Amino acid sequence: MPFIRNAWYVAGWSRDFGDDLVALTITGQTLVMYRTSTGEVVALEDRCPHRQLPLSKGKRIGDTIQCGYHGMTFNGQGKCTRVPGQDNLPASAYVDAYAVHERHGIVWIWMGDPTLADTDTVFDLPEFSDPAWHAHQGEGLHIEANYLNVAENLVDPAHVSFVHPTTLGNASSENVPVHVSTQGKAIVAWRWIRDAPPIGFFQKFGGFSGNVDRWHYYYLHLPSTAVIDFGSADAALNLPEDDRNKGVRIFALHFVTPVTEDYTIDHWMHLRNTAVGDEAASGQMDAMFKIAFAEDKEILEACHAEEKRPQKRKPIRIAIDKGPNVYRKRIRDLVEAETTEDLGEPVAPTFIQHE
Ligand code: FES
Ligand SMILES: [Fe+2]
Repeated sequence: MPFIRNAWYVAGWSRDFGDDLVALTITGQTLVMYRTSTGEVVALEDRCPHRQLPLSKGKRIGDTIQCGYHGMTFNGQGKCTRVPGQDNLPASAYVDAYAVHERHGIVWIWMGDPTLADTDTVFDLPEFSDPAWHAHQGEGLHIEANYLNVAENLVDPAHVSFVHPTTLGNASSENVPVHVSTQGKAIVAWRWIRDAPPIGFFQKFGGFSGNVDRWHYYYLHLPSTAVIDFGSADAALNLPEDDRNKGVRIFALHFVTPVTEDYTIDHWMHLRNTAVGDEAASGQMDAMFKIAFAEDKEILEACHAEEKRPQKRKPIRIAIDKGPNVYRKRIRDLVEAETTEDLGEPVAPTFIQHE
């Protein structure tokens, strides 16, 4: 399936971009990125229009890149500023420049038509700037799988009991039904596990030893940003669903970036309303998340490899697949909208469907 291009994807953390040329691939497109002397991150097509050498193999001259083959030079807008050996600069001597937006230490890139890039639509949460919350950036998890499988896993609370038994799930949630709804453009899958022993994560960070109420809300924003709102509160509080801030609450964020059909990078981080300012706790949480994400990676890569083999019969869908099913349908609709152009003028209906 084609990638969705008119969307913001995470290219990396702010710390990943400096003076050096960084080569990366997003939605199959190769890019060269760097930070200019004014602090702005720029992204260019990583292919010289002359002999197609990736510009990332050239070198920076001030805020421009000089191609490593014959020295054609391009500025941060992709415009050619020098062709060695001639005085004129041909109009077709340019590389595509991509819209980039940096916010909360995250570098986003718009892979489609730059004139459609609206920075108001970059994913945001009020908790990023709330002093009662602590934001901590993790890493980029590289997964040899298609991004749809990675994103789908993030609207699938049912897997945690089986894939993450020591960290994020335990047997008490195996048979608790998952609710699914849509909130605007987000798909939400959630469940509460009431009055059950705490999972490993909240034994460690909530200090809970007796029974707790635990929630998992999986929000998937199209095309592939996930927020997993999970937490626990003492079961005696019988916490209402909308009072989750009264418990120990964590948002695990996953910015899922399609690299190629078979490769995905999941930049993950978290926001939390507990242990604010405590970097030792951040490190301990990272260690637990890394256990869990390595478990996801193993499963997703094995499924992807199997999907690529000849199929004797159709895979099946079961009751817990509601979130993933809605997600796939919305992705198909987005792809359809992006890859076709509807030029039909509104006319009197000529198509009548008989029941
Ligand atoms: S390939 Fe870049 S200048 Fe020739
Ligand atoms: Fe998982």
